Amino acid sequence: MLNDSIRYHNDTLHIDAVPVTDIIQQIGTPVYLYSLPRALHNLQRIRDAFGHLDAHIHYSAKANANLAILRTLIEAGAGIDAVSGGEIYRALKAGARADDIVFAGVGKSPDELRYAVEQGVGWFNIENVAECDMLNQIAAERNISPARVALRLNPKVAANTHPYIATGHGGAKFGLTAAIISEILSQQEQYPYLRFEGIHVHIGSQLHDTEATTRALKIALDLIAPYPNMRTVNIGGGLPVAYTEDDPLPNVAAFAETLTPLLKDYTVLLEPGRSVIADAGILVTTILYVKQQQAGQTFYITDASMTELIRPALYQAKHTIIPIIRRGDSASRPTSVPATIAGPVCETADVLGQARLPNTLQPGDHLAILTTGAYGAVMASNYNARPRPAEAAVNPDGESWQIIRQRETWDDLLRGER
Ligand SMILES: Cc1ncc(COP(=O)(O)O)c(C=O)c1O
Repeated sequence: MLNDSIRYHNDTLHIDAVPVTDIIQQIGTPVYLYSLPRALHNLQRIRDAFGHLDAHIHYSAKANANLAILRTLIEAGAGIDAVSGGEIYRALKAGARADDIVFAGVGKSPDELRYAVEQGVGWFNIENVAECDMLNQIAAERNISPARVALRLNPKVAANTHPYIATGHGGAKFGLTAAIISEILSQQEQYPYLRFEGIHVHIGSQLHDTEATTRALKIALDLIAPYPNMRTVNIGGGLPVAYTEDDPLPNVAAFAETLTPLLKDYTVLLEPGRSVIADAGILVTTILYVKQQQAGQTFYITDASMTELIRPALYQAKHTIIPIIRRGDSASRPTSVPATIAGPVCETADVLGQARLPNTLQPGDHLAILTTGAYGAVMASNYNARPRPAEAAVNPDGESWQIIRQRETWDDLLRGER
């Protein structure tokens, strides 16, 4: 979907003031391009929506952990939600204060917990009784001040979203049952090196309706009500994004408004990922071949594939796909035809999407796959020995741009092998 930062100007797609054609002439395709002004705008929009609460935003690095993006958001005041030792390492390299990092994740290893404790990470979102024991022991061995803990609740609430990004139903691997949380809280003194201060509840991503979140939150608040030390509620991420014209337009302010009566007496932590960076990014690709198949479909075979963007193959995600250059004025635009955009990978699932595209497009022309800033580059792989793509960003000034990740080379693919 187009927005104030990613839009056509004189029929050429721009990122802020920069024509996409300028960037790809220099660094080629496939390439992820980001608007840092848009990411900052999104961060501020969420901050404003929750501004009347004591709310703190921890950007969820899993959505896009490029150093330049982390650095930009950290400099704007965001904390970081990390789900691995590697993400903590990245966040610290990007300038995060350890105290502003939340360490979440269903399977933290002992080494990762040790690293996080030694670095002084601010919050541990705990998902397992054995994790309480392990963290308590690690902190005791170092005789450091107790680690601050939020217990992650699995509220047994099914979010209305794709099954792969629903995390709060009883069958999911995430979180602790309400019964176990009650048990831990009633025996807090067993963990002298843990400070139980918060409850964490994240029931999924792309949460368009607030009803399920409200239900989950009420369960969480009932659980902590008897414990005056539990004054922080981490509501996770999940703020939605529109990917196509048919998607409902998300309204963060209304979302915050609905939750306010429940949250007004608590410190609130948020972990938004997608809603900060998804619509600030595009994947630009070159058409390699145009092909008519026997069943009548037109295929545009592109130099981007499921190794750059796995969301369509993994989640059946739909992204809007448009040409970088629009030809003809609005009256004389070429006829558009339904097309399937597919990559070179040897998998039938390697389809990036369907779109109506001008019938004049030729090999060498460029397409943009929109709203790919989140869960795009971070999920890229080397399958079929494909180097991961370059990434570039338009700086907060909206006018200059920089390469923020070099394209991998074939030599990079061999690193560590013999
Ligand atoms: C615990 C937790 N927090 C935050 C996020 C980020 O969610 P989103 O990108 O939907 O904002 C996720 C995503 O899966 C998550 O599992």
